[in-house]
Amino acid sequence: LREHEEFTKVKNIATIELGRYEIETWYFSPFPPEYNESLKLYFCEFCLNFMKRKEQLQRHMVDGKKNKVYGQNLCYLAKLFLDHKTLYYDVDLFLFYVLCECDDRGCHMVGYFSKEKHSEESYNLACILTLPPYQRKGYGKFLIAFSYELSKKEGKVGTPERPLSDLGLLSYRGYWTRVLLDILKKHKGNISIKELSDMTAIKAEDILTTLQSLELIQYRKGQHVICADPKVLDRHLKAAGRGGLEVDVSKLIWTPYK
Ligand code: ACO
Repeated sequence: LREHEEFTKVKNIATIELGRYEIETWYFSPFPPEYNESLKLYFCEFCLNFMKRKEQLQRHMVDGKKNKVYGQNLCYLAKLFLDHKTLYYDVDLFLFYVLCECDDRGCHMVGYFSKEKHSEESYNLACILTLPPYQRKGYGKFLIAFSYELSKKEGKVGTPERPLSDLGLLSYRGYWTRVLLDILKKHKGNISIKELSDMTAIKAEDILTTLQSLELIQYRKGQHVICADPKVLDRHLKAAGRGGLEVDVSKLIWTPYK
């Protein structure tokens, strides 16, 4: 798909049914042509296969968990809520981290992020989505924190793929702000951007722009210097709000993709 074409297209699917939710979509997503006349699509919440009729979905639910095209379907679904993003449908190049709420009916997807298996630009996250019914519950922050824990395990710094959406930028800014302020608050003495980057796996440029937006950076003798007055830190920390669900690193069993 050419980027320009994708952005100018008018929204096609108006609503989707997914699990126990009917969700209004936000943007156009390039479903195969035979789906374009449907105003509503029915998704299997387990394998993400989508269908035009509810009866088809009911029939499918018998063995839906075995489906192998999950990654591709996830991309179609995600594009309904992502605007300025070119989605790659060559899902072989990505790993998908899917977050679920679990109950006695099974595991229900609430959001996900994708990550390139190999990124030349040190991207540690390609696309992130929390489905609208589950937004503003801290899942976005959790997924972002998780993506940085993976980077720490890889021993690399990471950054999200650009461009960021408005909501993506808000969530990332919030995460970077809280992580950096927490360290600055505890740390005694001078600390450099490089040290902060080593500790957090956040790319130096993202640290610099975050600290600049908080007015914690001064430019002295050709160098950026962090000036962290404790009172200013406290004020920013209060404004930064809740940290979201915590990632328990001791439970993370993961080896970097090779
Ligand atoms: N209005 C104002 N602030 C918001 C909003 C909103 N609608 N949504 C999120 N935020 C800010 C808030 O500061 C919020 O923290 P708070 O609730 O403590 O105030 C913070 O972002 C993150 O909130 P979470 O609950 O942790 O995040 P959520 O689960 O809602 O997911 C996400 C955030 C993934 C960006 C979600 O809004 C989404 O899926 N949006 C559509 C897809 C998208 O834009 N994805 C990012 C594209 S960029 C990329 O993929 C690299």
